[in-house]
Amino acid sequence: MASTPDAPAEVQRGLQDIVALESHITFIDGKRGRLLYEGYDIRDLAEHSTFEEVAYLLWYGRLPTAEQLRDLEQRLAQLRALPEPVGRLIDTLPAESNPMDILRTVVSTLPMFEPSETQPSPNSIGGALRLTAAIPTMIGRFQRRRSQLSPLKERPDLSHAKNLLYQITGREGSDLDARAMDVSLILHADHELNASTFAARVTASTLSDLYSSITSAVGTLKGPLHGGANERVMEMIDEIGTVDRAEEVVKAKLARHERIMGFGHRVYKVEDPRATILREWSRRVGESAGNLHAYDVLQKVVEVVHREKGLYPNVDLFSGSVYATLGIPRDLFTPIFAASRVAGWTAHVLEEYRDLRLIRPTARYVGPVDQTYVPLAERTA
Ligand code: SDX
Repeated sequence: MASTPDAPAEVQRGLQDIVALESHITFIDGKRGRLLYEGYDIRDLAEHSTFEEVAYLLWYGRLPTAEQLRDLEQRLAQLRALPEPVGRLIDTLPAESNPMDILRTVVSTLPMFEPSETQPSPNSIGGALRLTAAIPTMIGRFQRRRSQLSPLKERPDLSHAKNLLYQITGREGSDLDARAMDVSLILHADHELNASTFAARVTASTLSDLYSSITSAVGTLKGPLHGGANERVMEMIDEIGTVDRAEEVVKAKLARHERIMGFGHRVYKVEDPRATILREWSRRVGESAGNLHAYDVLQKVVEVVHREKGLYPNVDLFSGSVYATLGIPRDLFTPIFAASRVAGWTAHVLEEYRDLRLIRPTARYVGPVDQTYVPLAERTA
């Protein structure tokens, strides 16, 4: 009698609601719309902290003293430069490439040019520092290359957020712009087992190296259902045009069963607390720039999507309008997401190394069993 596979437990597509591991890093309360990094509420961190301080918190599990923070800021500033062959590689890759493909390629190339005696050991917080410091330089080098501009000189005097703005726009930006970027970097720094972080942990769970784990994460974040949504929100704003067309355009999309980018979430059943904070920053920077068009359109879209579909905004809804107001090209929105999330990705990879367990779920087999092998000469169809 042909053996049939024992029927395993019910399939949870997308591993929805599956608890895959224990983590000390981030807590998401999906029902109440709360997000905590190592127990600290994201609202307090967005109000009082900096990206550098949050990166320290994610890597070390505690807030730094003033001296520890100064030391981290200095180490990050010192680790921004790329090895010249890596810079030259960016200058030779096709200028029309997708910036997330550039980032994925360069992250995986960097360790090949890191003489071990001069760089922090890759599978450690040193490796996390190096990648967190270098990714803005990678983004900036590509932006200058595709704009036919020479690479920028280093500015170790700039904070992480100001340096990211400088690398992309060639300008430090106003204090308001820099604070808006810093807050957005804080908000995007980690989010428990989202798809790209899970990809990084799967890679690390095989004892592969930190750079390979982050390369997996970058490739995963590129997807429009994950990191790429904020670019598509801006395309939706263009399609809507004016506030009074928002209702008609959104309803038509819903009628075509299209996903409205920037809405819905696998975990949050109420508004994503990051969206709440980014909405306010979208208003602030828009007001400062004298252009609230994107903000006004999005506010109307929020009203229509909630009324028609009962869905709430997620982190991607307002982030793009903040970045656009800061003068950032749309196809760099997701690379900026990566520039922030690399802090969380690396924290999770290091946590996986400390409490290693090969991640290997199973699948429910639904194919045929006990097939008879027919020699090639006898196969007709
Ligand atoms: C991020 O996981 C994370 O933490 C990710 C992230 C992070 O910080 O790492 O938070 C970042 O990825 C935010 C999400 C960015 N993506 C988008 O904004 C893309 C649009 N959103 C959807 O694709 C969707 O909401 C997901 C992918 C985010 C979540 O989808 P789920 O949990 O798989 O939900 P689902 O597809 O099962 O949908 C449930 C219902 C469906 O309705 P029915 O077909 O059952 O009638 O809700 C509907 C969906 O059609 N729905 C939407 C919708 N999201 C869900 N309908 C219209 N527009 C949407 N955005």
